[in-house]
Amino acid sequence: MSESTTIVIFGASGDLTHRKLIPSLYDLYRKDRLPDTWRILGVARSDYSDDSFREYLETGVKEFAKDTYTAKRWREFAKGISYFRGDITSLESIKDLDKFIGEWETDGDGNRIYYLSVAPNLYEKTIANLGAAHMVNEDRGWRRVVIEKPFGHDLASARQLNQAVHHVLAESQVYRIDHYLGKETVQNLLVFRFANSLYEPVWNRNYIDHVQITAAETVDVGHRAHFYDGVGVMRDMMQNHVMQLLSLVATEPPSSFEAEAIRNEKAKVFSAIRPIRPQDVAKSTVRGQYRTYRDAEGVAPGSTTPTYAALRFFVDNWRWQGVPFYMRSGKALAAKVTEITIFFKRPPHVMFPMPANSKPAPNRLSICIQPDEGIHFSFQAKVPDTTAEMRNVEMAFHYDESFGTQSIPEAYERLLLDVIKGDASLFTRSDAIDLSWQLIDPILEGWNSNFAPPLNFYESGTWGPEEAKELIAHDGYSWVHGCSHEEDN
Ligand code: BG6
Repeated sequence: MSESTTIVIFGASGDLTHRKLIPSLYDLYRKDRLPDTWRILGVARSDYSDDSFREYLETGVKEFAKDTYTAKRWREFAKGISYFRGDITSLESIKDLDKFIGEWETDGDGNRIYYLSVAPNLYEKTIANLGAAHMVNEDRGWRRVVIEKPFGHDLASARQLNQAVHHVLAESQVYRIDHYLGKETVQNLLVFRFANSLYEPVWNRNYIDHVQITAAETVDVGHRAHFYDGVGVMRDMMQNHVMQLLSLVATEPPSSFEAEAIRNEKAKVFSAIRPIRPQDVAKSTVRGQYRTYRDAEGVAPGSTTPTYAALRFFVDNWRWQGVPFYMRSGKALAAKVTEITIFFKRPPHVMFPMPANSKPAPNRLSICIQPDEGIHFSFQAKVPDTTAEMRNVEMAFHYDESFGTQSIPEAYERLLLDVIKGDASLFTRSDAIDLSWQLIDPILEGWNSNFAPPLNFYESGTWGPEEAKELIAHDGYSWVHGCSHEEDN
């Protein structure tokens, strides 16, 4: 079968193509990782010629792949890019597109990736049209469809979308992107846990006290308010990115590095998480909105869309019974940081003299997803020249020190390469999407009911509402920044 591959990007005039997809494909080209024969075809309704489309894309590569951009390499790469003006909601237009691609493929043979970088309300129609135009049959080469998040708006719509997808495509043809899974540091979680023998024996309820996951952003919703106001932090960050981080921390060791083995184990984690019932949301969740959110253009007057959430989940299985997982995410916060911190239990008995009512700080392992990617482990050490005074000290691993500054590729680069290779390990399977919505839906339902906790307002540039501190303080803990050592203000 042909090795030629066409990467068709629907919605190619949009931000994602400009900022992420083309800069990542450019870097793959530069590293000689694209198939021997390839072509990128942008499809949108805007009026571009091949040349003007390439010019537009070049500005993106200059900005978002600036360390690797050279005019010469770009010119070579850009020869493989063309543009097709078309409307994906029209079957006629899709059929024309098929003919157009077919003219390039030798004797009708060739592999195709269809990347849906379009508004989510167009997913079903686009997929149905691809099916109706027989463009997903695999008799003359493989066909893979990449779907961006959000995958559904709630459980019912996610199920409907999954059904529409499966009506036309086999699950093995579908690549649902969660770009967090393409981040090096997220992939490293599996290596860290399962390629080292030190951690796995203690990675359970006997040694771990609790886990904190923070995905904080400094940006506010800015020009995305139109989109964001109907979505909010639970759908935008929690249901996907943060839940994926949780699943990788909590997963059992997969039997192999194969996509299905990994995805089976992740699905088991989701199915073991205890849902927070709508009537319990005030006990286990906090919602917030930064104070100036409602002033943004595109936000409905009096909008109650949360831009911040903190919650506590339990994973009801043998390994994690009783260990709380605290998760928080928000916009307009004090720092852009994503980290996971594992708190180990304190020693059962302290033989060292300590001031009254104090205990040694617990050992803490922080996985720094971004920025300043790395891992920090903090432990107690004796302060020199004291009898037995103790202080927290740290061992740290940083990517830039160990692997050099160029070592971390853009998440999309890895994900696009995996689609080309047909490796779905880092993509979300339909059951995981369904299971994760089963956990998020009752929270959203609770927030829309009389059981809802108050919507707490917070100042931009802070660590969110005070109530989030109370959520965790109630259990005797406080939020930490194990990677940056900042204080919550
Ligand atoms: C996206 C969300 O999926 O992830 C955005 O829609 C968010 O709202 C972004 O800003 C965060 O991604 P990253 O890689 O910058 O942490």
